[in-house]
Amino acid sequence: MALSQAAALVEKVIGHDTNAVTEQDITNPGRDRAKYADPSGEKMKALCWMGKNTVKMLDVPKPRVVEDRDVILKVTGSTVCGSDLHLLHGSVVELEKGDILGHEFMGVVESMGPAVKNLQKGDRVVASFQIACGNCYYCDKKQSSMCEKSNSNSIEAGMYGARTAGMFGYSHFTGGFAGGQAEYVRVPLGDVNLLKIPASVPDEKALFLSDVLCTSWHCVVDTGVSKGDVVAIWGAGPIGQMAADFSFMNGASRVIIIDNNWRLDYVKEKYPKVETLDYTALPKGTSVTAKLREMVPRGPDIALECVAGEYAKGWAHYFELLLGLETDSSEIINEMITSVKPFGRIGITGVYVGFANHVNLGSLMEEGKRLMGNGQAPVHMYWEKLLGMIESGEIDPLKMVSHRVSLDELDTVYYKFEKKEDGMQKVFVETKFSNPPAAGCPTLTRFTT
Ligand SMILES: NC(=O)c1ccc[n+]([C@@H]2O[C@H](COP(=O)([O-])OP(=O)(O)OC[C@H]3O[C@@H](n4cnc5c(N)ncnc54)[C@H](O)[C@@H]3O)[C@@H](O)[C@H]2O)c1
Ligand SMILES: [Zn+2]
Ligand SMILES: [Zn+2]
Repeated sequence: MALSQAAALVEKVIGHDTNAVTEQDITNPGRDRAKYADPSGEKMKALCWMGKNTVKMLDVPKPRVVEDRDVILKVTGSTVCGSDLHLLHGSVVELEKGDILGHEFMGVVESMGPAVKNLQKGDRVVASFQIACGNCYYCDKKQSSMCEKSNSNSIEAGMYGARTAGMFGYSHFTGGFAGGQAEYVRVPLGDVNLLKIPASVPDEKALFLSDVLCTSWHCVVDTGVSKGDVVAIWGAGPIGQMAADFSFMNGASRVIIIDNNWRLDYVKEKYPKVETLDYTALPKGTSVTAKLREMVPRGPDIALECVAGEYAKGWAHYFELLLGLETDSSEIINEMITSVKPFGRIGITGVYVGFANHVNLGSLMEEGKRLMGNGQAPVHMYWEKLLGMIESGEIDPLKMVSHRVSLDELDTVYYKFEKKEDGMQKVFVETKFSNPPAAGCPTLTRFTT
């Protein structure tokens, strides 16, 4: 049995905790139509997880208001994230067949429960990928990704010591909430998890406040990038790209980005100051660390992980992952540890699920390197500030948007994004409710006829 299903079974046996103030495990309104589906019987298109490495567009019931603080959105934009690939691959546990995915989305308010006083029908809003209650210990500090009242999963608490917040479209491990890769979505605790968007900001820019922009910003500022720092970034996907942008913005003197494909050129074209390191082009026997030492004599001040733990580089970790001897590879973490200069800082934004073997604790300890850990980014801490920076033109999220695609073809898009085909860096997914593309934004690409 796949790890994902085994974990779900264990959770059923142990049972959830009672901390959550919102209903858990509503990952598809079709699961209990009487309770979760709109009484009209209207159907909607949604991207569903159907098993390891399989997602599919399905017609499912439209959601209804279930709780007083719920908001139902007509989705006008969503996207696919590197985090969705961890779900596709089943490396994040506790998905169930039929779960609707998508944690980055925006839309227009269609209806809401009576306790939502700060929004009106027709408001244009973007959702936070994490679901926060707004008034627990962590929410009071704006550390919304650690909200104590939106996720009652017991396995997560057992594995991590505490739980993260609930998250949209991110398995039952984070509460079990239907995601926004759909025509409609239910936003629980909608009074605090939706940010109104001014008319001056187009959908194609606002959408990315859901996750990417807040995550990359957090990655950079939480690791303390400051004036003069040399920053090395592993991963030239959307997160790594924006982390490069924000590192310069926070004073970095040099940014070196490491990957293995065309994305390095994509990022270089947008930010010519970025230096690139393609590790597949290194001479045999030359490590990433050796190359970085050649480029920066004492090593970078800061290393940022924007890849993930599920991608093994060598055979040893490949087999350890395959055999379940670890859930994550330590290869990138070790490269970061040995590359940064003594007393340098290392932040982890790429997803690590559990346990990794062979971590180079010696280098970490002996040379005073700081493994800081950035965690799931607290969107609520940054999204208003970053919206202001989009409005003023300081931040341009369009630099990462390579395609506009249709929700109808989102299953195809998942596989293309996974394989990094067609120069796909970050997509904007339109629905039947979307506005036409704004000026300067990509127009629709279709993949099937
Ligand atoms: N912490 C958070 O709040 C948060 C939020 C969003 C995304 N994430 C995570 O951040 C990570 C990056 O997201 P993304 O959307 O940019 O993902 P992505 O999958 O699009 O990009 C990852 C990049 O890493 C590269 N890569 C693979 N192995 C590598 C290696 N050994 N060295 C260097 N590069 C390598 C890939 O070629 C790819 O270009 C993912 O793990 C995602 O889940 C975390
Ligand atoms: Zn994401
Ligand atoms: Zn909270």
